Amino acid sequence: MKIAIDGPSGAGKSTLARMVAKKLGYLYVDTGALYRCIALYAIRNDVATKDCRAVCEMLPEITVELRYDEDGFQRMFLNGLDVTEDIRKPEVSMAASDVSSIPDVRKFLLKLQRDIADKNNVVMDGRDIGTVVLPNAEVKIFLTASPEIRAERRHKELVEKGLKISYTDVLRDIKARDMQDISREIAPLKAADDAIILDTTNCSLEDSLKMLIDVIRG
Ligand code: DC
Repeated sequence: MKIAIDGPSGAGKSTLARMVAKKLGYLYVDTGALYRCIALYAIRNDVATKDCRAVCEMLPEITVELRYDEDGFQRMFLNGLDVTEDIRKPEVSMAASDVSSIPDVRKFLLKLQRDIADKNNVVMDGRDIGTVVLPNAEVKIFLTASPEIRAERRHKELVEKGLKISYTDVLRDIKARDMQDISREIAPLKAADDAIILDTTNCSLEDSLKMLIDVIRG
């Protein structure tokens, strides 16, 4: 069984997908974390994330691995090192969006994503899961919300982690990333034709989870 959850950043995908996976006993796969690993490697090696050629040249140096801890929490390993926390830094977000528009990067990560879905029941979240990675997923959901509410949620999350960042900056980043993810040529952020669109702008987390479970149970 494959459940694809796509949508823009801050729509609540990861929180909700994790909760749904737990409820159903499926594996939760956060695919954005894979792009974040590539971006982090580029940043650490002074490779410009918009420089397609330079990013492609560094790909053979990279091994990205997903591992799960005893609580079922996904941890990311970049060349054997745990980078789970490092990839969450705000500067990695836009860089991840940059590298995600490079066809070779998407090709590099596609097999990894499909292999996991072949071996497990999954709830996979990302931007192109229903359209490209798992076009045969049994359930496809496109989760969205207004940019303002997404920025508000993301801002709260970052502040709780101890980061000093303003709401205005978060909103600006979210809008810039939306624009870049929607307008890229390869696997752009969009709802699959057969996806069910859920707008969580006016929904609490509990309401959104209920909506999601109702859709999955049909
Ligand atoms: O979900 P996230 O914010 O961690 O994703 C970071 C970036 O990675 C996002 O801006 C676009 C890209 N991404 C993608 O292109 N395809 C996916 N399946 C997941 C993420």
